[in-house]
Amino acid sequence: MTSETSSRKLEHLKMVVTSKVEAAESTLLEYVRIVHNPLPDLDLDEIDLEVDFCGGKLKAPLIITGMTGGHPDVAWINRDLASLAEELGIAMGVGSQRAAIEDRRLEETFRIARKAAPNAFLIANLGAPQLSKGYGLEEVVRAIEMIDADAIAIHFNPAQEAFQDEGDPYFSHVITKIVEAVERAGKPLIAKEVGTGLSREFVAQLRSLGVRCFDVAGLGGTNWVKVEVLRSKAKHGAPLKPAGPLADYWGNPTALAIIEAREAARDAYIVGSGGVRNGLEAAKAIALGADAAGLALPAARSLLSGGKESVKKLLESIIYQIKVAVFLTGEKRVRGLWRAPIVVWGRLREEVQNRGIDIDYYIRVTRLEALMYKEVK
Ligand SMILES: Cc1cc2nc3c(=O)[nH]c(=O)nc-3n(C[C@H](O)[C@H](O)[C@H](O)COP(=O)(O)O)c2cc1C
Repeated sequence: MTSETSSRKLEHLKMVVTSKVEAAESTLLEYVRIVHNPLPDLDLDEIDLEVDFCGGKLKAPLIITGMTGGHPDVAWINRDLASLAEELGIAMGVGSQRAAIEDRRLEETFRIARKAAPNAFLIANLGAPQLSKGYGLEEVVRAIEMIDADAIAIHFNPAQEAFQDEGDPYFSHVITKIVEAVERAGKPLIAKEVGTGLSREFVAQLRSLGVRCFDVAGLGGTNWVKVEVLRSKAKHGAPLKPAGPLADYWGNPTALAIIEAREAARDAYIVGSGGVRNGLEAAKAIALGADAAGLALPAARSLLSGGKESVKKLLESIIYQIKVAVFLTGEKRVRGLWRAPIVVWGRLREEVQNRGIDIDYYIRVTRLEALMYKEVK
């Protein structure tokens, strides 16, 4: 019964849990330090991790970003991750719903997420190439209704499509159509990359069209060029479209992508993701200007190797580490990290400067401007 799209989702999942699929290039988060405050002047218990996010509220600033659904064998993954999102009060995205748009029998592999998480912030998911090739308002509405979603992520993945055996590298004249369709569907649009990172120019363009939510999914974590090359190699002995160094080094590293996104859209909601693997990295992503941190691969690996309890432990430890990081800056709330002194040095500093952003001004002023938007709201 399964279509090509559906089988591909299963192959991807198997590939990412068993192979080395993270980019050799780093997130550049190692060039960020949050300055320690030896006298926080408050108690750890007072820290409040709740944040508003794209029209909803999260108990902690963490998102399990979209991965799966679309094949009967993976429905339980959406169920377990969604039920953890419900329990911990965090957000969760499902993977691309294209397979279920093509074959209604697969809808249950996504619906199961809402059944397991009646109150959690759930994010629907479709790809820009599908909208380019013919999807419109009807499909966007179907994807949202399928999981009674609080928002819909549209993924922009040109690097992946370019190297996928059966890829759809079609991105022309699509942006206005996407924005209009989602606007009419009535839920926030989250413009999302998948591991090669949003850029300043992209965020500015979409913000000017009214988009207010972004998931940077930067370089340094799961790398889809790598995944597609490995998948092709496994099938044909050698990749049909060899990627050379693009498989490790093409893209905007996560730390840079967060700064670029915030520089381009002070009032946006930004997810800092791509290679975020612990609470310190999550706190750094937030301190750089993200509203919440996101992760995908660690949740999938932990679930498939250790079951739901192991993912729960992982997520709880990340949330606790974020809480302690906020405490150790002397701030009471998550967005206090935007006010906390941070140090940015080395390659990250140089790359930010080279992109025309004054890093010292960004640290001292831009983050505070972003804070004002959220505080006056
Ligand atoms: C198994 C797997 C499947 C994914 N499928 C999707 C998808 O269908 N749609 C999407 O927008 N992103 C997808 N992603 C990308 C993630 O949401 C995320 O942006 C990316 O993996 C970077 O985060 P990470 O380094 O924490 O994995 C997938 C990631 C993984 C690991």
